[in-house]
Amino acid sequence: MAKSHKSPVNPVRQEAWRLLDGVVIGQTVLPDLLSMPQHQKLDPSERAAAQRLATATLRFADRADWALKPFLKKLPHDTIRNLLRLGVVEVCGEGAAAHGVVHDLVALAGRSNRTAGHKGMVNAVLRRAIEKLEGNWDKAPIPKMQKWLRKPLADAYGNSVLQGIERAHSKGPALDLTVKGDASQWAETLGGVALASGSVRLSSGGRVTGLPGFDDGQWWVQDAASAMPLASLAVTPGTTALDLCAAPGGKAMQLAQAGAHVTAVDVSEPRMARVQQNLDRVGLSAKTVISDALAVQDGPFDVVVLDAPCSATGTIRRHPDLPFARDGAEIGFLIEQQVAFLDHAATLVRPGGTLVFCTCSLLPDEGEVQISEFLTRHPEFSAVPPKADWIEESWRSDEGGVRLRPDFWADAGGMDGFYFAHLIKAMP
Ligand SMILES: C[S@@+](CC[C@H](N)C(=O)[O-])C[C@H]1O[C@@H](n2cnc3c(N)ncnc32)[C@H](O)[C@@H]1O
Repeated sequence: MAKSHKSPVNPVRQEAWRLLDGVVIGQTVLPDLLSMPQHQKLDPSERAAAQRLATATLRFADRADWALKPFLKKLPHDTIRNLLRLGVVEVCGEGAAAHGVVHDLVALAGRSNRTAGHKGMVNAVLRRAIEKLEGNWDKAPIPKMQKWLRKPLADAYGNSVLQGIERAHSKGPALDLTVKGDASQWAETLGGVALASGSVRLSSGGRVTGLPGFDDGQWWVQDAASAMPLASLAVTPGTTALDLCAAPGGKAMQLAQAGAHVTAVDVSEPRMARVQQNLDRVGLSAKTVISDALAVQDGPFDVVVLDAPCSATGTIRRHPDLPFARDGAEIGFLIEQQVAFLDHAATLVRPGGTLVFCTCSLLPDEGEVQISEFLTRHPEFSAVPPKADWIEESWRSDEGGVRLRPDFWADAGGMDGFYFAHLIKAMP
């Protein structure tokens, strides 16, 4: 058998590069790439390391580009650009030793005919960019979002808020839990802090499944912002509640924990299986229905929750792949779908009941604008400003909703971008 002349390469860096190309060139979000057989072939620790490295590289790609630019005669092909970004971020941001990283990435470039011709350039440019940035990581510019997202956000919030959001994105997310019992006690047990809104916050990292309280279902992972739409709603035992877009089940579990009789609907069978798994683990129950939200005819319900599919632009702290894999082209469709879901959800609320609308989007078109137009179309509904002493006045929006942004609670570690409104249906 002929001997291979290819030198062995680090499987984590190889996989991280594949993931980066999948996101940036293949326009596929990381979770989809992570479920592919090629990724599953690695052992679990390599999979986790590759995911961490690709995520960090995407979070700081703009900073890496800034460091690389002076040493590039012309912009290389995206796959080479990704390799360079990977090297800069792993060494300067993650603290890996430059020699090993550069050696490995040059070897990786050499393995394919498409990139082998760039080995020399990768070697030279990487070394110079690393020399420029190593030790100056925290002084380098905050990574900017992609143009397609910067423009509408600058229009909505102004440049100074936009920069605050970008700063929050560069810090990454904390790990927030919604707990069934006393938040202060769980914060003490887990070495975290109890947030004013009732979530427990841990500094990110570590295996969630190994933490006390996981096996006996004492809490579930849910960003503090995502828990707020229901943490600010009084739900009494026996309330009938419909969660129209339920997976992975964070809000359905909040409702069930408050004693509501919950019907959880989601169009995706595998995602609904996750809901059932989560319910089982935390020992809560809900009727689960796999269906298009628009086909639901049950009810009317005391509470209908519509956590609608959206651009997810509020979750970039935890999903820095999103602005690379998307370009905003789908937002028009999402907005129209939200209108249809809202109009249908309105028919499922009993008179005197509440429709909770939320999206994990930073775009007012998927939040404030959506609800002010809904209130014009549906005079039988009025927005009741959510009541909770931890809701700051500056979070409230004119039409009666609450706007949450990643730069809020910055000292405590920020939160996802979110929008929510509580809409009450008039009695006849
Ligand atoms: C933002 S997530 C919901 C998060 C969830 N409420 C929670 O708190 O854990 C949106 C969900 O809507 C579901 N979805 C998308 N299109 C749908 C449709 N036509 N009908 C019902 N669910 C849909 C997706 O499968 C996804 O699980």
